[in-house]
This record gives sequence, structure tokens and C-alpha cells, in this order.
Amino acid sequence: MVNRVELRNISKSFGGISALKNVTFKVMPGEIHALVGENGAGKSTLMKILSGAYTKDNGQIFIDDTEVNIKNTHDSKKLGIGIIYQEFSLVPELSVAENVFLNQLGRTGFWMKQGKLQKEAEILINSIGFSINPSSKAGDLSIAQQQIVEISKALSEHVRILILDEPSAVLGPQEIQKLFDTLDRLKKEGVAIIYISHHLSEIFQIADRVTVLKDGTSSESLHVSETDRDSIIRLMLGRSLEAMYPVRNSIIGEEVLRVVDIYQADKVRGVSFGLKAGEIVGIAGLVGSGRTETARAVFAADKREKGKIYLSGKELQIRSPREAVSKGIGMVPEDRKQHGVILSLSIKINISLTDFRGVSYHFGFIKAKKESNNAIELIRKLAIKTENENQEVGYLSGGNQQKVSLAKWLNRNCKVLIIDEPTRGVDVGAKVEIYNLINELSDKGVAIIVISSETAELMGTCDRILVMRKGQIQGELAKNEFSEEDILRMSIGAN
Ligand SMILES: Nc1ncnc2c1ncn2[C@@H]1O[C@H](COP(=O)(O)OP(=O)(O)OP(=O)(O)O)[C@@H](O)[C@H]1O
Ligand SMILES: [Mg+2]
Repeated sequence: MVNRVELRNISKSFGGISALKNVTFKVMPGEIHALVGENGAGKSTLMKILSGAYTKDNGQIFIDDTEVNIKNTHDSKKLGIGIIYQEFSLVPELSVAENVFLNQLGRTGFWMKQGKLQKEAEILINSIGFSINPSSKAGDLSIAQQQIVEISKALSEHVRILILDEPSAVLGPQEIQKLFDTLDRLKKEGVAIIYISHHLSEIFQIADRVTVLKDGTSSESLHVSETDRDSIIRLMLGRSLEAMYPVRNSIIGEEVLRVVDIYQADKVRGVSFGLKAGEIVGIAGLVGSGRTETARAVFAADKREKGKIYLSGKELQIRSPREAVSKGIGMVPEDRKQHGVILSLSIKINISLTDFRGVSYHFGFIKAKKESNNAIELIRKLAIKTENENQEVGYLSGGNQQKVSLAKWLNRNCKVLIIDEPTRGVDVGAKVEIYNLINELSDKGVAIIVISSETAELMGTCDRILVMRKGQIQGELAKNEFSEEDILRMSIGAN
């Protein structure tokens, strides 16, 4: 059987750093091939070489056993290669339809009336199981919807090779299932699919084979049916993982936060809950259930219409995230690219920033030595893969950027810390480090809210879980009542 894609002895360095060393990787038509590895292992770099976004230093690329020369993204498109990048590539000012057909719009001879463009986009989006208004501006969509537009865009041309770089990171369980149905259909049509994910369970669900990248070198490709989770983790980390969720002895104190009957547009409809010092409370629910909006309302990132919030018994009067931070409330947002980190600044400065993006930072008060040491300590604890603390965040791998965004808040002295999707995009080893840090904070008495789409993560880390549905709290479970089934049942509103 011929390979659809063969990457042979590919090497790539950035400056003095070698990201890929003689990597070999083969994918057959009609195969879903998973590519996994730690943050910074080189997965995205390898795929960007195939898509023409980066040029290789050495090595060869074969498509259907013929050597090809991919100099830019145009060359790769001509060869039938479609890619969904880890970072978003939509133009926020353009409509959904314009984004879906962006690649074709510039092409000579391709011209469609707006009406036809929208109709075609709608048909395409529906064909993969979703419905999004094609005339909406891309920038107004939720991140899950943006991802669906990215997928539609990749499928707007006839692809023979489809690369998906962590497509599921921003999707909910139902959306992921629809994506898998689409991949299954494409696989039957003979498309060669390369699927990158940190969720190993997904790999066992859809992939035929899996290849592990470690520090820029590739392992042998394994048949998924002949391997298991522990073996893959060992290849990724070079060691096995004892326990995913560290044991915790919670010492719960006085109530710190009380939220009473808050409303925000039609997204949050009468939410009330309390949170104690040293307590970790999870918020479960489907994408769109109002979890993030509840957090944003507490953090004053959105204006709430009704309700009261008390901090240590005193009514909280804040109108902006900056004021929230000054009162001791922190929030790690789910959409880190937009709100979490500033890509053009160093790790050290990002960690030291005292405020939300775009707000002035008090350089005058930063004690250089202390800040460096702080950053170095967090880089070590979170195993952020970088040369040093002065590296620009934009040059880090996706997962390592996430870690910086988290480190920045772990560095604050907060009374209340809200973390939206704490481990999105990070590898299994780093997840455990993040759970350890969250535990450390709660041991110090910080009251923590964790929002997560991974039910297992909430059950493994929280003292209590609130389940949201349609802007309301549908139910609450204490630690001894946690059950995946009950959480799902409450999330979807079944009895
Ligand atoms: N444009 C760039 N400039 C400098 N270094 C880069 C650049 N792109 C990637 N790197 C480095 O190359 C290495 C591999 O990064 P890559 O993004 O391929 O990792 P990854 O396996 O996709 O990780 P993640 O799971 O976090 O997305 C990292 O050390 C990263 O810092
Ligand atoms: Mg990556």
C-alpha cells in the first residue's frame, strides 16, 4: 500500500534551537493518524512544514510516493493539503461566509455574489452537522463556533490530506462527536487525516495509528488497537504517570465570596452560590451553558444587570477587571490568545503584568531581580519549555503559551481565583503540575473556581461541583456524590 504522505528525515531549527531532528512520519490514504507529544515536542512545527507555513532545513516530503517541493502554503493547497491550525486564522472583520471561502476569493476567476457565497457556506457548515449564520462577523462568534468555521474553511476545497492541530481543544462533547462523524466520512472517502490532540481518549476513539514526538524526534508508529494509554504516556514523557489527580487534604475556612441572583444578558439567569477559603468549586456544563459568562460577571469583565456579590461579607462594587484584581479577584480566561497573554512580550513581563491585557503595567515598581527569580521558579514548576525567562511568548508552542497565562495568575496574591479551562492544550505531564499548583494555592487559603469541560478533571480536583444549564445552576454535587452520569444528566437537562 502506498503512503499518501511520507515525511523523511525532516529537521528544523529556530535560531540555535533544534525543534525537529530527522523526523520520519507516514500516513496512508483512508487512515486517521494521531500525532501526540509533550508541549513543545515539535508537532505543530512538523505540520507547518507540511502545510508550507515553515520551510524545512533538511529532509524530503513525498506525496503518493512522489517527492514534492513545498515552498509555501499555496504549494501545499495545490497538493490537496488542508490544515486547521492550533491558533486561529480567521479574519474577525469578515463574515463567516467570506472566511470559509477566503482562500478562493483571491483567486482569479473565482467570484461569487454575497448571496451565493452565503448559501454555499451555509450548505458546507450544515454538511458537517452545524448551523451558524453565514453573515455573522467571525469576530462575534464564540470560540467553539470559530473553530467550526475553521473546519469548514479547510473543507471548502477538495482535500486529500487533512491536518487538524488540536481541533477539539475548544469544542464541547457534542461538537467533538460531530467532528468525529465528519472525519469518519472523510476517512471512508480515502482522505489521509493527521490528528493532533492531548486528549488520549480521543485517540483511542478515532485513530488507526499513533506516532509520538519527543524532543523533536519521532517514535515508531503504533497501531492504536495494539497499544494502551500508559504506553503512549511513557513514550511521551519518558516516564509513567503515577496519579493523574494528586490527593488533597482540603482545609476549608470562612466564606469568601457570595454571589446572589446575578443576571447578565440572557446568558446568566439568576445564579447564586457561595465559595469558602481553601475550597475548590467546579462549574460543569455544556459549551454555552453560561459558565464563562458567570465567571466574567463576577470578575466584572461583563456588566451584570442584576444581583449582588459579596467579598468577605462586604458588598463588592466593581466595574472593571482592573478593580476586581485590586480587590483580590483573579481570573485566567478560557480564550488565552485574546485575553491571556501578550505574544510580543517576554515570559517574565507577562508573568509580572499586574493587570488585564492592554492596561498599563507598573514597570517602575517591578524589582527586576525578584521578577526574574519568580518567573524562573514558575517556568520550572510548570515545565515551560523555553530557553529562558526573556523569551517572547509568541515563539513558544501553543501549550507553553497556555502555561504562561496560568503562571501569571498563580503568581498573584488573590483571595478568589477563577480558572476557566485550566488545562486546555497542555500535555498530560503538565496537567498534573497544574493540579499540584492549584492545590498549593488552595492550601494557602485561596478560594478557587474551576470551569472545565472535562468532567473527570472536575471530579479529580474539586470539593464541590455546580452544574449549569441555560444560564442557571441546575444542581450541586458534594465530593462524595460525584458521578459522571449525574453531571451529564444535569448538563443536558434530562431526568
Ligand atoms: N516561530 C518560532 N520561533 C522560534 N521557536 C519556535 C517557533 N515555532 C516553534 N518554536 C519552538 O519549537 C519547538 C517546538 O514547538 P511546537 O510548536 O512544534 O510544539 P508542539 O509539539 O506543537 O507543542 P504544543 O503541544 O504545546 O502545541 C518549541 O521549543 C518552540 O518554542
Ligand atoms: Mg502545537
